[in-house]
Order: sequence, then C-alpha cells, then structure tokens
Amino acid sequence: RSARFTLHPDFTVADVDPRLFGSFVEHLGRCVYTGVHEPGHPSADEAGLRTDVLALIRELGVTAVRYPGGNFVSGHKWEDSVGPVEQRPRRLDLAWRSTESNRFGLSEYIGFLRKIGPQAEPMMAVNLGTRGVAEALELQEYANHPAGTALAALRAAHGDRDPFGIRLWCLGNEVDGTWQTGHKTAEEYGRLAAEAARAMRQMDPSVELVACGSSHQGMDTFAAWEATVLTETYDLVDYVSLHAYYEETDGDRDSFLASAVDMESFIENVVATCDHIGARLKSTKKINLSFDEWNVWYMSRPRPEAEEGAADWPEAPRLLEDSYSVTDAVVVGSLLIALLRHADRVGVACLAQLVNVIAPILTEPGGPAWRQTTFFPFALTSRYGRGRVLEVRADSPTYRTAKYGEVDLLHATAVLGEDGTVTVFAVNRSRSEPLPLDIALHGLGRTVVIEHLALSDADPEARNTLDDPERVAPHTVEGTTLSDGRLRTVLEPLSWNVIRLG
Ligand code: AHR
Repeated sequence: RSARFTLHPDFTVADVDPRLFGSFVEHLGRCVYTGVHEPGHPSADEAGLRTDVLALIRELGVTAVRYPGGNFVSGHKWEDSVGPVEQRPRRLDLAWRSTESNRFGLSEYIGFLRKIGPQAEPMMAVNLGTRGVAEALELQEYANHPAGTALAALRAAHGDRDPFGIRLWCLGNEVDGTWQTGHKTAEEYGRLAAEAARAMRQMDPSVELVACGSSHQGMDTFAAWEATVLTETYDLVDYVSLHAYYEETDGDRDSFLASAVDMESFIENVVATCDHIGARLKSTKKINLSFDEWNVWYMSRPRPEAEEGAADWPEAPRLLEDSYSVTDAVVVGSLLIALLRHADRVGVACLAQLVNVIAPILTEPGGPAWRQTTFFPFALTSRYGRGRVLEVRADSPTYRTAKYGEVDLLHATAVLGEDGTVTVFAVNRSRSEPLPLDIALHGLGRTVVIEHLALSDADPEARNTLDDPERVAPHTVEGTTLSDGRLRTVLEPLSWNVIRLG
C-alpha cells in the first residue's frame, strides 16, 4: 500500500497569493487584550504591544490580518475606537456579551501591523449589521483620505497624519447567520452590500471588496445565498467569503482527519456558484474566494468553567481558548494543503484567529506566550509555500470514513519556488500505518533533499501547555531519498510533512 504522483513544471495550478497566509484579530475574549496588547506586561513596548507575541507572529508568517471581527463588527462603531484613549467610550459587545473598553482601536491596529513588518496587510471589516453605507464611507475616509477633509483632519489630529492605506475591505460578517446582530436575508444583504461597494468605489476605485458568503457549507441557505448576493454585487466586489471550522465529533477521528474533503468541496461549490452567476450575467469577470475564517474549533465541547462567568459583560474574558493536539495540527496542515490546491481561486485566507481565541499562539496575562501545535504547519507552509502551485493528482490507497465515504490516505500539494526549489506538503491520514510515497519529478532539475520535517507523535493527543510549552515541535525525518528524478520516502502514521528539494 503506497502512494505516488508526478510533478512537472508545465502542470501548474496558479501562483500563490501571499494573502493565503492571512490571520484574524477580533475583539473577542483575550485575542486583543492580554493577547497582542497588554500595557504593563514585562515585554510590552511603548504602545502596550507584547513584543514576545509580536516575535511569534513574525515567525508564524502571517500576511493579511482581518479586523475587528467577526461577529463583533456587527455592533461596532468605528468612531469609538479612535482619538484619545482615555476619552473612548466603554460599550456593550452583544456578540460576545463582553464590555469593550476601546483601549485598542483602529490606530493601534495599524501600528500593530506596522510592527509585524511589511508582509502584514490590513483587512478591515465594515459594520453592515447595525450600520450602513454612510458609516462605511466615513470609516474609509477617516482611514484612507490623505488630507483636506474633516475626517482626514480628524485622523491627523489624532496623531496619524499619514493615511492607513487600507485596500482590502470586508462588507460585513456572516450576515446570513441568525446569531449575527442585524442578520439579513440574502436579498436585503445583497442590496446593502452592493450600495456600500458602489459608494466605497466612488471614493476609491482601487479598493478590493469581499462580499459575505455563507457562514459554513451546512447553512440551509448555502449556495442560494451566494447566488442572490452575487447577482446584486457581481460587478462591484472582488471576493466572496467562506468560513469553516472543523472538530472531531463522537470520537470519529477518521472523519476529522479528512476535514479537508469538506473544505475542498466547499471551495469547488462556491467557485461553481460564482461562475454560474458570471455566466448568467454574461460577464468575463471572475469572482475569487476569501476563505477568511478557517480552523479547528471545538465548538461543541463543553466549555471550561472560566467561560461561565461570561454572562456578566466582563472585559476580555477567557473565551474559545482551545488547546490543540498533534492530531489537530495535522488537520490544520491538511486544510492549508486544501487552500494551496485551490490557489487559482482562493486569493485570501485567514486562520481564525491569531492569539488566544482558537489560535496558534497562547499567552498568559503577565506571563509567557507559546506556540500551539497548529503554529508549526502554518509557519512552515507560509515560509515555504510561496511560488507556483504544481498540479498533484495522487494515486493513493484509501480508507473509509463515516462522513466522507472512501478518502485518500495521502493529501498533498507541491509548490515551485522562484529559486527553483520544490516543496512538497503531505499528510498521511492513517492513524496506524506508515505510507510509502514515490514522487516522479520531471523537468524540475532537483537533485537533493534539503530537508524533510514532520509533525507527528507517539501520542496524537500531545500538546504544548503553559507547563510544558515545547512538548511538541516538528522533527527531521531521515531516509528520504532523491535519485534519478524519483523521490522516495515513508510518511509516518498521522503526520503532516514538508519535504524541500533543491
Ligand atoms: O472566529 C470566531 C467567530 O466565528 C467569528 O466572530 C464569527 O464570524 C464566526 O462565527
């Protein structure tokens, strides 16, 4: 039982958009407060940003950072989040039953991105739940207009003379969901999104706009929602959003390990819907996909006691602080493979979220910050998954899953870097058996295995914790060979792998 595929430089999927390695900072739980921002922490800089967390974010290699929500954005008043911090109002956050102090706001977000480095790009959501076109325009003018208007002058008076230059905007969040403050039907949202998009483009035709797609593929309105929204917005937006979270349920690990089957079908179904509307409108334009929330999230597990106090409008409570195992990291690695395999249409993707809230980085208030298991596949894919995705059509043994039927044990993709290196990302979904893998490399001129790293563990439940923050890390796999244009290796059971060829 072995797997094989062939790589050739003429058979490609697309160039990888760096925005595929985006992330998400929402005002939710401790993502912002005591996550990225904690004045008084021993590592805090003059802006109150935790430099220990900034260093980990740089290592993680995130690009676009979506902000400020999420469900939070549907009650957000952007003007609360600017100006002198001590004058900013405290507000109820209905989405997470918390109190928002607004100590961290728009200017702090832009400052945070600048400190991450030039690879970090803003991805700002406007509130189309409780607000509309006028407020979206005011935010855009405050953020981006260089000078000479009241709102540009206000930004300068607040200490930000230079505009923020936000190009990528989300037109609301999960408006299809009844849980969303200001939930709407597809018709209502489609009209509102079209008017907001038209007006935002009037101010600046170069903005890139994301219309809300479905909150997940299982929504009753899935696909019909996208069709209606895109019929209204097709000429006005660049992307439609997708959100998906996966978890192991009822002990069905085999299905959980095949979560990328759902992600790939979700992507293909949204592409089909976009292209169907394009065909109906006789348009040559293609709408691309912004998979702007994805991750493993143990949504249906009983939440820890710490979350029970969350009914009384606390500030920055401990919410959704999932701890991730090696198994979860293998699934995250596989979801990244799914995104790369669809790089021809997925132009933006955001791991939700960045710190503490279902996140690859955890922190303790006043204490350390550390890498969860899921940190590693993200960081290594962001580092080495840059270039052109090569077509991978694998011949693989299969296994039976309750949710997805017969599924390949191998899940893989490959990326040709600008320097000619080839990087293979591969998952062995078998929980018990090693998987021999044979790759034929044609016309790629590779002669050496630079490195083969794997994330796997004798204990698939192993994780990094406050007490043992370095328990899990990738290890080098010996014995992978490349000769006569053939790569031969054996993937460990339940493993995520990165194999670099020079
Ligand atoms: O990422 C957590 C939440 O999940 C977001 O606020 C929302 O958009 C989604 O339902």
